[in-house]
Amino acid sequence: GHAPGLRRTLVLVGIMGAGKSSVGQVLADRLGAPFTDSDHEIEAAAGMSVQEIFQHFGEPYFRAGETRVIDRLLTGTPRVLATGGGAFIQPPTRALIRAKGVSLWLRVSLDVVFERIKGKPGRPLLAGADPRGALGRLMALRDPIYAEADMVVDSLGGEGHQQAASRILAH
Ligand code: S3P
Repeated sequence: GHAPGLRRTLVLVGIMGAGKSSVGQVLADRLGAPFTDSDHEIEAAAGMSVQEIFQHFGEPYFRAGETRVIDRLLTGTPRVLATGGGAFIQPPTRALIRAKGVSLWLRVSLDVVFERIKGKPGRPLLAGADPRGALGRLMALRDPIYAEADMVVDSLGGEGHQQAASRILAH
């Protein structure tokens, strides 16, 4: 048979460290679709890292660029799109994703996600003295919004990206 292909862009949403980029890349390969990571697109356009954009220009500036980049990507060839953890939380960005794409929440527990990301640099929202507390508060605020995605799949601890992608495709 032939690959079914994607009719609309599949947008992965969820907290940082949920596995959006890693699982998204595997999904795209299996579907024969292009893969894009919105944070990487923003970094390429700005010529600096997400962390540097936050530092030099602030979060609202980053969010405005993020909305533009995601809008552009949703208008092009259907693909698998991994978004930064805050993208779906912003009402304008969420409205674009809901209108033009199919969203999938990669849901993960605080314990699993904190194990994955602790000690790793590059996440400005967790740069304070109590990153686990900050992450827990962020998830408590955001999970009800991620839950508005079209589909939900659990991102389990100890599971490989290939296995997570298989479960998503079976879904
Ligand atoms: C953010 C998540 C990051 C990045 C930025 C803000 C967030 O992306 O976009 O640091 O608000 O949760 P990842 O989810 O890829 O870490």
